[in-house]
Amino acid sequence: MKVDILSLFPEMFSGVFQQSILKKASDKGLVDFEVTDFRKYTTNKHHKVDDYPYGGGAGMVLMPQPIFDAMDHLTQDLTQKPRVILMTPQGTTFKQKHAEELAHEDHLVFICGHYEGYDERIREALVTDEFSIGDFVLTGGELASMVMIDSIVRLLPGVLGNDDSAVTDSFSTGLLEHPQYTRPSDFRGMKVPEVLLSGNHALIDTWRRKESIYRTFHRRPDLLEGRTFTKEELAWLEE
Ligand code: ADE
Repeated sequence: MKVDILSLFPEMFSGVFQQSILKKASDKGLVDFEVTDFRKYTTNKHHKVDDYPYGGGAGMVLMPQPIFDAMDHLTQDLTQKPRVILMTPQGTTFKQKHAEELAHEDHLVFICGHYEGYDERIREALVTDEFSIGDFVLTGGELASMVMIDSIVRLLPGVLGNDDSAVTDSFSTGLLEHPQYTRPSDFRGMKVPEVLLSGNHALIDTWRRKESIYRTFHRRPDLLEGRTFTKEELAWLEE
């Protein structure tokens, strides 16, 4: 997968792409990150990227010219159009299902603004998707795009060591994960549930599904809306 990022603060990305799983994914050639400082595409004398809004009002607006020229440059030799994602608090709230869908793309472009707004023509002519990472306002789209990129890239085949680990993720399964324990079985008097030490895999599996349902019911009942429960699950919830 090719991931292009248009940002005025390219250094913000160096830490993220040079550590841990994203670095390994890029070292293995599974993803190719490229950050473009779109200020270098400005054609005005002072390399301005923003201007006052027509009609007046507070704040500045990102001008179309540098973004359009940067996009022309990025896409000039391409036969297939990439998905072009605008980071904005006005966008669709990013969810695991979006990460799963975007992980199938060959090429993603993220546009990160650092200003009050984007000239509407950027949205109209260039952008295919608008995403927000939640109902709060960040100083810019960079951190938000990193969150999205992290969650998409970890889903690419070969990125996570154990292929199963993405399949059993909370949200992919529609449920929160059951409690986990590791050694020791007794830590400062706090004991691991007996069933997990039993070696009985059928019992362990049932216990885990039950704990998942309980945990989701108590912490994120919204995730259960529209779910068809099995008889066994209904009985657990009535206990
Ligand atoms: N830019 C500023 N706030 C944002 C948010 N919540 N999500 C995506 N991009 C943003």
